[in-house]
Amino acid sequence: MAYEVQGVVARSKGAPVTIETIVVPDPGPGEAVVDVQACGVCHTDLHYREGGINDDFPFLLGHEAAGVVSAVGEGVRNVAVGDYVILNWRAVCGQCRACLRGDLQYCFNTHNAAQKMTLLDGTELSPALGIGAFAEKTLVHSGQCTKVDPAAPPAAAGLLGCGVMAGVGAAINTGGVGRGDSVAVFGCGGVGDAAIAGARLAGAATIIAVDIDDRKLQWATGMGATHTVNSKETDPVEAIKALTGGFGVNVAIDAVGHPAVFEQAFYARDLAGTVVLVGVPNPTMQITLPLIEVFGRGGAIKSSWYGDCLPSRDFPMLIDLYLQGRFDLDAFVSETIGLGDVEGAFDKMHKGEVLRSVVVL
Ligand SMILES: NC(=O)c1ccc[n+]([C@@H]2O[C@H](COP(=O)([O-])OP(=O)(O)OC[C@H]3O[C@@H](n4cnc5c(N)ncnc54)[C@H](O)[C@@H]3O)[C@@H](O)[C@H]2O)c1
Ligand SMILES: [Zn+2]
Ligand SMILES: [Zn+2]
Repeated sequence: MAYEVQGVVARSKGAPVTIETIVVPDPGPGEAVVDVQACGVCHTDLHYREGGINDDFPFLLGHEAAGVVSAVGEGVRNVAVGDYVILNWRAVCGQCRACLRGDLQYCFNTHNAAQKMTLLDGTELSPALGIGAFAEKTLVHSGQCTKVDPAAPPAAAGLLGCGVMAGVGAAINTGGVGRGDSVAVFGCGGVGDAAIAGARLAGAATIIAVDIDDRKLQWATGMGATHTVNSKETDPVEAIKALTGGFGVNVAIDAVGHPAVFEQAFYARDLAGTVVLVGVPNPTMQITLPLIEVFGRGGAIKSSWYGDCLPSRDFPMLIDLYLQGRFDLDAFVSETIGLGDVEGAFDKMHKGEVLRSVVVL
């Protein structure tokens, strides 16, 4: 028996999102239906609505969620009905060439549900990042469910499902930030602030937050930034060099995804430093860099898919740190809202008024 529930849908490029009745099928083999309890509003949802990811409208938005498994299909063994889970958008296959090499975080064939959720008229929905969790129930592949300690409240826990994991992982997994390192983070939204919190967890000594909005810089200080730079007023490359003995940082993280910002990150790092791109560019963006600078500066230019995380390893670990008071997930929750408030939350995100609005169901 399929379920009819309310969900937030982006019907066409740039159009405001609407609440629609959606049809969620019973889980088939390997699938699970999850009763969503909370789902954060990530900038990637807005990228989808703006047509910046692809043109597969209509989208069922929302992908940063926690909830309880309410049904499982045939052959599902990793979760059972009643389990409290965080949803992930990279359920590794274990069989592709990346997985076979042991690099599961790069899996090239990640799993999503095989069946489609639809509108009442049968129109197939494209769930954002294969999740679609601005809905009372959603259908996913069982591998997209990671069990965590139910002591962590869903509004905080769900954020690990995308932005916070991406940011923490960009610093710790992709950037390899270690004790004593210097780090600069460009763009202090949910993802950038998580990179700052991750750098602090990893023991970075200098953490420089860069943004064009003073309010964001103030919040970044609360997350662990030791210095802030407003790049609208000050050249961030010069400022970062001045704060690091004239050299630049060991790890520079672009959490905006814009060519001008990437270039700043590229030049703000020390020799042999690492640049990490975790912000998502749109398909029209280009960069031009002198090849001699790419060579001469050494180090690495890396992009960070989902913070190079392994949900099975990283979600329970970060939830444990949260419950021990060592990682403040609550600080990312600016407000809790209802399903009908997602469009308003995009507006607040645009104006820089929130770190994360979280839909609570
Ligand atoms: N790689 C991944 O797996 C992954 C996962 C989640 C989100 N993302 C991407 O990360 C990016 C950030 O997401 P978010 O949810 O934190 O967004 P957000 O809107 O909350 O934050 C963006 C921040 O960047 C700042 N900013 C904008 N232009 C800037 C500039 N020129 N210089 C410095 N700062 C600038 C804004 O003031 C804001 O504080 C988005 O592109 C999102 O799609 C990537
Ligand atoms: Zn794989
Ligand atoms: Zn996201």
